[in-house]
Amino acid sequence: VQPCTHDICPCRIDPYGFERPQDFDSYKEMMNEYVAVLNRRSMRWSKLLQDKPNVEKNLTVKRYVRKGVPKEHRARIWMAASGAQELMEIKPGYYQSLLAMEHDAKLKETIHTDMHRTFPDNILFKTHAEECLQKDLFNVLLAYGHHNQAVGYCQGMNFIAGYLLIITKDEEKSFWLMDALLGRILPDYYSPAMLGLKTDQEVLGELVKTKAPAVGQLMAQYPGIWTLVVSRWFICLYIDILPIETVLRIWDCLFYEGSKVLFRVALTLILHQQTEILRARSLPDVCECFKQMTSGSFTLDCHTFMQVSREGQGYKCTH
Ligand SMILES: *[C@@H]1O[C@H](CO)[C@@H](O)[C@H](O)[C@H]1NC(C)=O
Repeated sequence: VQPCTHDICPCRIDPYGFERPQDFDSYKEMMNEYVAVLNRRSMRWSKLLQDKPNVEKNLTVKRYVRKGVPKEHRARIWMAASGAQELMEIKPGYYQSLLAMEHDAKLKETIHTDMHRTFPDNILFKTHAEECLQKDLFNVLLAYGHHNQAVGYCQGMNFIAGYLLIITKDEEKSFWLMDALLGRILPDYYSPAMLGLKTDQEVLGELVKTKAPAVGQLMAQYPGIWTLVVSRWFICLYIDILPIETVLRIWDCLFYEGSKVLFRVALTLILHQQTEILRARSLPDVCECFKQMTSGSFTLDCHTFMQVSREGQGYKCTH
């Protein structure tokens, strides 16, 4: 079985090696419209990048990134926007040297344990697959653990490295993108104390208080609730939480604009669902609401979703 190369196609596997969502009809409906957008964007991008060996960061590129990076240019744009390309060029051979050094046995063991738990349903990660990405995944995580010893390895990183490999199909690029994300874009998300992550969750709580005071008040009744309901969103950068096309559009912006994109997305989800949240009468009710808000047509339609998350269109606080 090979990943399907067409966006709208009833075959079981999507272009990234994942099984198609159960709710294929809504997906197809969304895709029917999105494909026209994709084609238009793809042509515009090709023109923009024509004869340009290096992609610079400027307002045009930023605007283009916000409207989505086509699959064929994604690896290149992520590398350029995040600064990973530059670092890779400054340190040629560095990635290979990390793999060649003597390895920490405990780190190796921990990473190994998570191998079969990383996208077990994705055909690109099945051990008998033609171009199995499992070994690449292992290498990227091992190299990263030695490169950033304060972090080493922790759960969640396997999914991030896995996504990077699916898009770039290149170990060294995935390593440098991982470094850009964990080292600069989201510092202290994955260190043992997770201070960056905790701070960002508190910031989100404050944002909600200003944008939707009633929701803020309700959430304040349950101490520690923000960690419970959103830490996975932030740690996994929405992988396995939102539909894949939506996640990739979020990552396009994340590499270009940084962590504020994660807030925008969280806020968009929460504000969209505020009426339901306000009906919650208990902690489990609230948790259920947060689970529900990540699925459905609002999150599936990635193009509109991203637009709403940028402009706050129609979701200005009304309470
Ligand atoms: C912005 O960067 C892109 C890609 O490098 C380039 O094609 C374009 O001409 C630049 N635009 C401006 C206004 O500098």
